[in-house]
Amino acid sequence: MASKRKASDPPPRNSSSAVAVAVADSSELSETRDRRFRELYSKPPDFKQLARCDPEFAAMTKGRELDFGDPASVVQLTKTLLKLDFGLVMQLPQDRLCPPIPNRHNYILWLKGLLDTSSYSPPGRSLVGIDIGTGASCIYPLLACVQRPWSFVATDIDVESLKWATRNVELNGLGHRIKVVGRRAEDALIPLDDLGLDSVDFTMTNPPFYESEHAMLQSAKRKSRPPCTACTGSLTEMVVEGGEVAFVNRILDESVVLRRRVQWYTSMLGFLSSVTTLVGRLREHGIRNYAVTEFVQGNKTRRWAVAWSFGPMRPAQDVARGTKAASCKLDLLPAATEAEVAKFPMPVSIGELADKLSGAIGVLDLMSWDWDAQALAGTGRAPDKVWARAWRRRKKREAENAMGEGHNPSEPICALGFHVRIHVALQHVSVKCRWLEGSDPIAFESFQGFLQAAARSAVSGTHSNPRLPGR
Ligand SMILES: C[S@@+](CC[C@H](N)C(=O)[O-])C[C@H]1O[C@@H](n2cnc3c(N)ncnc32)[C@H](O)[C@@H]1O
Repeated sequence: MASKRKASDPPPRNSSSAVAVAVADSSELSETRDRRFRELYSKPPDFKQLARCDPEFAAMTKGRELDFGDPASVVQLTKTLLKLDFGLVMQLPQDRLCPPIPNRHNYILWLKGLLDTSSYSPPGRSLVGIDIGTGASCIYPLLACVQRPWSFVATDIDVESLKWATRNVELNGLGHRIKVVGRRAEDALIPLDDLGLDSVDFTMTNPPFYESEHAMLQSAKRKSRPPCTACTGSLTEMVVEGGEVAFVNRILDESVVLRRRVQWYTSMLGFLSSVTTLVGRLREHGIRNYAVTEFVQGNKTRRWAVAWSFGPMRPAQDVARGTKAASCKLDLLPAATEAEVAKFPMPVSIGELADKLSGAIGVLDLMSWDWDAQALAGTGRAPDKVWARAWRRRKKREAENAMGEGHNPSEPICALGFHVRIHVALQHVSVKCRWLEGSDPIAFESFQGFLQAAARSAVSGTHSNPRLPGR
C-alpha cells in the first residue's frame, strides 16, 4: 500500500501548472481557487503535459496516445488527474468502477453552485453531505473535501467497495471528515435516523444506471467495451431493480418524509428520459423548487442531474436551468430566478439613478433592505407583496379594523427574498433582479413589474429616452 499522505500535504513537485491544491477551509477559500477548479477541464487534458508531469503516466503511455480501451491506462489517467489537479491518491481494485474525473468533478462544481447560491451566507460554509453509493473510490467526498470545508457520510452496500473506500479516505488523511458507512440494500437510502443525525445540507448520488444486466450489456456493446471492467463497473455497481429511476424514486419518497431535514436532495442521471420522469414526479408532489442540469464531457458523454428542495432558498438560474433547450425540453425546467427588468442608454448620473431606485425599494414595508452603494446592488426580504396596491389597501383596512387591538408580534415569514443590481456596461445601464427566497413565482414576477416601474421613474430626469425590454 502507498504511504499515507494527507490531501493537505503540498502538491507533488512535478505537478502540472493546473496545480494540486490543499484542503480548503473557509479562511483560505477564494474566488481565484474556485475559478481554477471551474476551469480545470474546460479543455480536454493535455496528455503530453500529463506525461511530463507524472512519470507513472509517462510509463503507461510510452510516448503513444492513451489507449482508452485498456482498463489499466484508464485507471492511470484517473490517478494522474487526481494527483496533479487535486493532490489526491487513490487505489482501486480491478473489478470496480474507475471514476472518470472530469465527469465527477462536474457534479461537485454544480453542487457548489447550488449550495452557494441558495444561501444568504458567503460561499465556503462548512457543510455536511451524504454520498449515497460512494463506490470503491469514494470519489465525490474526496473531490469535494479538497475544494470545500465539507464533511461526508459515504454509504454503500458493497462490502468490497466499502473496504476500498475506507482505504482511500485514510490514504488521503480525511478520516475526520469522511465517515464510510455500510448499508443493506433494503435500508433507508438517507440514514439520518439510523445515524442519529438531525439534518444534513445535501445528499448526492451517482446511482446504478441500469435496470438489468441485459440493458448494461447492450450499452457496453454499443460503446464497444467489455461489459465489466474498471471502466464500466461491476454488476452490483451498475444494475439495480428498476434502474436509476427506481433508485432516485426511493430517495424522493424518503425526501417527502424528511423534507427540510435535508436542504438539497440531488442525483446524477445517465438518461434524459429519467430526467423527464423524475421532474414529473417532483411536480406530482408539488415540489417546484428544483434544478436540472447536464454535464457534457468531450463530444460523447452526456449526463444529467436533478436536485430538489423543500426549503425556500432558490438557486441561481445557471444552476437551476443548466441545460440547453435543444437537449432538454424547456417545460422540464423550473421557474426562472433571474430577470433583466430594464435597460437604458447611459444616464447622466448613475449615482442619482441608484439613489432613486434604492430609495424606492427602501420605502417599502420590508423585513430588511441592505443597499451597497459601491456595488450598486442590494438584498431585500419582503413579508408579502408589499409593493402591490392590493397589499397597501389591505394593510390600510387591517389598520383601521385593528385600531386599539394589539398587533401580532410573531416574526413574519419571508414571502420574497430578492437581490437587485444595477449593471453598468459601456453604452447602457440595466437593472437586474434575482429571486433568492420564497415559493411563489407570481410574487417574483409581480416584484419585477414594480422594479421596472421604479427604474423607469428613477431614470426619468436623468435621461430622456429609457428603453425597457418587453417581458
Ligand atoms: C454507479 S456506482 C457509483 C460509485 C461512485 N459514487 C462513482 O460515482 O464512481 C453506484 C454505487 O451505488 C451502490 N449502491 C447500490 N445500491 C445501494 C444502496 N441501496 N445503498 C447505498 N449504495 C448502493 C453500489 O454498490 C455502487 O457502489
